[in-house]
Amino acid sequence: MTTKNEWFDLCSINDLVANSGVCALLKEEQVALFYLPNEQKVYAVGQYDPFGNANVMSRGIIGSKLGQLFVASPLYKQHFLLEDGSCLEDDAVSLPVWKTQIINERVMINTA
Ligand code: FES
Repeated sequence: MTTKNEWFDLCSINDLVANSGVCALLKEEQVALFYLPNEQKVYAVGQYDPFGNANVMSRGIIGSKLGQLFVASPLYKQHFLLEDGSCLEDDAVSLPVWKTQIINERVMINTA
C-alpha cells in the first residue's frame, strides 16, 4: 500500500534538545532534528553533509539570517535553510527535508 501522506511516529518531543540538533534514524536514513520550542516546531533535514561527506548536520549550530532559520555545518560551516534545505553558499546543493508535526508530544515525520 502506498499513500502520498505517510506520517511516521519518530520519537517523543522529550527525546529532543531545545534549540539544538539531535540525530534520529528514519528507516535506513539519518535525519537531523532541530526542536524550536518557541515556534513549537521541529525541523527535519538530512544528517549527511554533502560538502564534508559525513553524517554531522545534527551537530550544527542553528541561527537565522534575514528571518530565515539555518543550520551551519560543523565541518565547513555552509549554511542550510531549515525550511527547505537549500544551501546559502551554493544553490546547486541542498539537504533533503521532511515535513514534521507535533501531536501529543510525539514527533510525526512525513515519509511520503
Ligand atoms: S560533528 Fe562529529 S566531531 Fe564534530
